[in-house]
Amino acid sequence: MSINLSSSKGFNRLENILIIGNGGRENSLAWAIQKNELVKKVYLSPGNAGSDRINKCERIAIDFNNKNLLVENLNFLKIDFIVIGPEIPLANGLADFLRENDFNVFGPGKDGAKLEYSKSWAKEFMQGAKIPTANFWKVNSLEEAKKIIHSSSIPLVVKADGLASGKGVFIPDSKDECFSAAESIFNGKFGNSGNVVVLEEKIQGPEVSVFALCDGEKYVLLPTAQDHKRLNENDKGPNTGGMGAYSPAPLLTKDDLNRITKEIIEPTIDELNKKNIDYKGVIYFGLMITKSGPKVIEYNCRFGDPECQTIMPLMDKNFVFLLEKCSMGNLTGDEKIPTPDKVSGCVIATSKGYPQEYKTGFPIKIGKIDSNDCQIFDSGTSSKNGELITNGGRVLSIVCQDKDFDKVFERAYKNLKEIHFDGIYFRNDIGHQVRENYSKET
Ligand code: AMP
Ligand code: GLY
Repeated sequence: MSINLSSSKGFNRLENILIIGNGGRENSLAWAIQKNELVKKVYLSPGNAGSDRINKCERIAIDFNNKNLLVENLNFLKIDFIVIGPEIPLANGLADFLRENDFNVFGPGKDGAKLEYSKSWAKEFMQGAKIPTANFWKVNSLEEAKKIIHSSSIPLVVKADGLASGKGVFIPDSKDECFSAAESIFNGKFGNSGNVVVLEEKIQGPEVSVFALCDGEKYVLLPTAQDHKRLNENDKGPNTGGMGAYSPAPLLTKDDLNRITKEIIEPTIDELNKKNIDYKGVIYFGLMITKSGPKVIEYNCRFGDPECQTIMPLMDKNFVFLLEKCSMGNLTGDEKIPTPDKVSGCVIATSKGYPQEYKTGFPIKIGKIDSNDCQIFDSGTSSKNGELITNGGRVLSIVCQDKDFDKVFERAYKNLKEIHFDGIYFRNDIGHQVRENYSKET
């Protein structure tokens, strides 16, 4: 990295690291972090069956609700640095608690996590800072929603205000579908997350994910990525957590990124500061590139999944220092991430039925894998009698790097042919936007 990170001077000890979470995202973070020779041990809590396959990594069960025992356990393990992966512990204030107890944490406090856990708050935040986003209406009752939907002359999107595991957004095709979506949310489909509904102007354009590692004031951008949210090929079917991704996203030119920095990233960090929110973590900007320019679709207070699995192999062994600098408020802002001369792509293998009901517990067989610049990060797996079994909707993240996206996906799909479990499903068209030979293959 162009920051002087060749020595450990100025850094805290980084021998024992704890990563909280159990998905492909956390496994890929652990994999990237353990590359640094100063790191001796990476604990993943709770992790999954794939965590044990990662060098220096060990799964550990920690009860994060038992606060007294938590501090004792972390001290016993001599944890030097903690990375919180998912949004729920962040929204519940785990980072605040750990900081109050003198742990060094990457991840925003509850106040910063509000960018993700309240969509209406995030919309008002953007409105206040004049950050480009779709027009919106915050509604507190079905009656209010009905009035707005009825009188609206533009297509609307319906969103539950709170966290809903990526399932709280409806893109209706008619006013009737709009009513039913609002009704289902107010009727408790997402529990308290649906006490408030956000109606949004439906906007159009390609989507891109931008990640800013932030130390409270300064930030560093990771390579951009594009996710594939829909379940089926040709971007059809229901929204999922993400079926695959690629990075960097060539869709964004340098000029686009400069514009996004000026109109979106810097105003977001300034506004956080104005609100006295000391945001030490990653801000995930879910953007749509519309005809009138980039607009924020959503903020998340965590790394994207599967974007994280896609980007981590592009990081060098000093990545952990960047996270550490963010947690300490020590970024200079001049850090540059030296990405290799390679691009990266990820395909997710899911259980049949995902994102609705699905069964788990099926044995996973992995044949002969090309592991040269290819990784398999477990997303939802477990083990039974020493055998790897499915244990989630998204099961495995198959990732490859190469000099172009055609090669990346050719190799990722070749590896996928070696992976077998009952009901395995994946999209064949991940990265279609950037694969020159894609139409020839289909
Ligand atoms: P979110 O969970 O807010 O990222 O929304 C999930 C997906 O819904 C996004 O990735 C978009 O594809 C779509 N979406 C969300 N908001 C809008 C909007 N205002 N207009 C069009 N599509 C949207
Ligand atoms: N890949 C979308 C998300 O992490 O929310």
